[in-house]
Amino acid sequence: MGKKIRMGMVGGGEGAFIGAIHRMAAALDGEIELVAGCFSSNADRGRTTGEKLGLAPERIYQSYNQMFSEEAKRSCGDRVEFIAVVTPNDLHLPVSIAALRAGFHVLSDKPAASTLEETLELKKEVQLSGLLYGLTHTYAAYPLAMQARAIIGRGELGQIRRVTVAYPQGWLALAGDSNSSKQASWRIDPARSGESGCFADIGTHAHHLVEFFTGQTISEVCADLQSVVDERALDDDGAALFKLTEGGRGTLTASQVCGGEGNNLNISVYGERGSLFWEQESPNQLQLKRRGQPVAILRAGADCEYLDEKVRARCRTPQGHPEGYIEAFANIYRDFAQMVRCHRDSLPLECDHSVGDINAGVRAMAFVRGALESSRNQSSWVSLAPYWE
Ligand SMILES: NC(=O)c1ccc[n+]([C@@H]2O[C@H](COP(=O)([O-])OP(=O)(O)OC[C@H]3O[C@@H](n4cnc5c(N)ncnc54)[C@H](O)[C@@H]3O)[C@@H](O)[C@H]2O)c1
Repeated sequence: MGKKIRMGMVGGGEGAFIGAIHRMAAALDGEIELVAGCFSSNADRGRTTGEKLGLAPERIYQSYNQMFSEEAKRSCGDRVEFIAVVTPNDLHLPVSIAALRAGFHVLSDKPAASTLEETLELKKEVQLSGLLYGLTHTYAAYPLAMQARAIIGRGELGQIRRVTVAYPQGWLALAGDSNSSKQASWRIDPARSGESGCFADIGTHAHHLVEFFTGQTISEVCADLQSVVDERALDDDGAALFKLTEGGRGTLTASQVCGGEGNNLNISVYGERGSLFWEQESPNQLQLKRRGQPVAILRAGADCEYLDEKVRARCRTPQGHPEGYIEAFANIYRDFAQMVRCHRDSLPLECDHSVGDINAGVRAMAFVRGALESSRNQSSWVSLAPYWE
């Protein structure tokens, strides 16, 4: 395998949420090393984070532009190879573009950017750069999400007729929640979150999961979005009907005001010969219901021989020793490390991976735009294809 892949990070300072998860995930399989970072909008906090992580002082940077220009001056066997972007949404576009222009691959958290137009601009930059761009849609990286995709892809459920996906959260259910954490305050601010609140934040995860499971694209949407909690400028709850490219139909609900809920993302896919159900709060089991047969519960585990080999390879423990969110994130990092190695050595990428690409980012933000537009127009149907180009 050779030397570790070198990673730089933007965001993820003291008190941040997802940056620390990314770092644990990147480290889990020993293939990636964090060597540089600009961790915070607050220079002192960023320095403290870098010091606690044991980085060389000269590689803890005060701005991401400084990081990119200084790292680009280092020898090619020493400089960062890719940048993990874990800032609030408004910085995804400028940070990703600056990283690509400096010659670094990008692995960004979702959404790809804060509006559809920005995401299309980013797509052009990715294409121009010839570099790798990945999105961390975590839930597609659980082993059983990959198994579900394989079962559907082989046609075991027959034609897909209906999909129901729901992502209820409860952490923004009350007015007082809006300013209770920095995570909440930027998510409800249009200047930092973007054109949508809940649908961009977690509706995009649900959208991605539908497309990942079914291997199809959501092509039309009809939606009803609302802001339930007083005076929020962006949606905090919504529901949509959608159509898939091959004729199936579905419903997607996403809400951050469902009191008591954590991260209850769940999905059912119904085909003519069978159905399956998966939920991220119990990610190590997948229900499979085939016509005329008892319900089967597939379990995740490196020793589960009935799982596809590529799925077992995404498990690190035998069944019954549960893996979770960090390990799912680590699957994305392991896939991305392989993509970087293949890119470096001009080799074809062989694995069926779970890293979202820029086109998935565009389709997700097109879905958000279509849902917003539909909701403003008495929930009329909106076709998404015109937004993709
Ligand atoms: N994939 C997932 O499951 C998942 C889960 C949570 C969040 N996210 C995404 O991750 C991103 C971050 O979310 P979060 O909840 O961790 O936010 P957060 O507010 O906890 O952390 C953001 C971090 O970015 C830093 N930052 C802001 N401006 C910066 C700058 N100019 N330079 C360097 N650092 C800067 C902040 O100081 C902070 O440390 C969001 O885009 C969110 O949508 C994804």
